[in-house]
Amino acid sequence: MEKKIQNFKDSFNKEIVDFSSWNTLEGIRIRYLGRKGRIADLFKQLSALPPEKRRAPGKSLNELKDYIQSRISQESNRFAVKKEKKLPLDTSLSGIRQHTGKIHPLTKIEDEIKDIFKRMGFAVATGPEVETEYYNFDALNFPKDHPARDMQDTYYISDGVLLRTHTSPVQIRVMESQSPPVRVIIPGRVYRNEAISARSYCLFHQVEGLYVDKGVTFGNLKGTLEAFAQALFGEGVRLRFRPSYFPFTEPSAEVDISCILCQGRGCRVCKRTGWLEILGAGMVDPAVFLAVGYDPEAISGFAFGLGVDRIAMLKLGIDDIRLFFGNDLRFLEQF
Ligand code: DAH
Repeated sequence: MEKKIQNFKDSFNKEIVDFSSWNTLEGIRIRYLGRKGRIADLFKQLSALPPEKRRAPGKSLNELKDYIQSRISQESNRFAVKKEKKLPLDTSLSGIRQHTGKIHPLTKIEDEIKDIFKRMGFAVATGPEVETEYYNFDALNFPKDHPARDMQDTYYISDGVLLRTHTSPVQIRVMESQSPPVRVIIPGRVYRNEAISARSYCLFHQVEGLYVDKGVTFGNLKGTLEAFAQALFGEGVRLRFRPSYFPFTEPSAEVDISCILCQGRGCRVCKRTGWLEILGAGMVDPAVFLAVGYDPEAISGFAFGLGVDRIAMLKLGIDDIRLFFGNDLRFLEQF
């Protein structure tokens, strides 16, 4: 047995000095150390010996196995170094292009909007995209059969459960969870059953705002939105409030900015009006305060909801909302 072991070592040493490629080195490894290799075979022969005769050859055999393992890894290191030396770095070759990820243009604009409101002292809250009819409509003072529900047709998951059509339901969730003062913005995805076109998609993004305290006025709403618009679009931008209707605010307004492309002179994008609509807003309706257990005699508040996709399209000069959702690198890499 000892003799056999010594023979194996000799033949291994001969083979290992003149291998010339990874293949042959790997071949040697398999031949000696593989599951059906020579070492395994010797171990089998060893186990056939009577127990008292196994000890000494067993030890030599283990030593041989260790030796072969360490020689093979030594040689493979040496071989790797040799190979590298033969192929010096060629700096004239074009490199391997590294793809770095980027922030999605919608996320970028949403982050800018959030930063502006955070500087004004607003906290950020979020809520579920799968929402109940109660939070999406009832608690926001949309009566069951009111035509205002038609403006926000959505996807129903089951009876009374739907994909939210706006971020306003989170107003209710926030007010239910704390007492005034409340000063939050609520970014998120919303869904509507719309005819899909360059201007509308079944999925889009809003940032909701809510400010509730003693003595909050429409003047506070105007001042806050003006400061926001100037921070986002530049000092020169002007705001226009048009009377409108939302069930959860009274009075309500739709708010336009002076067209950022033509500075209000009139162009294709603003349809020659000089104005661009970017958000809805108003003073929180007393019925909403009652739904969350606030006393409408003691406090007041304003709310607004702005369309992130719309703002991103204006700021980045994008003319088709569907591009945001196409996952096309040729588009995304431009921002
Ligand atoms: N939720 C409205 C929509 O999606 C936007 C809106 C209007 C939100 C007025 C408000 C608000 O908070 O006060 O059309």
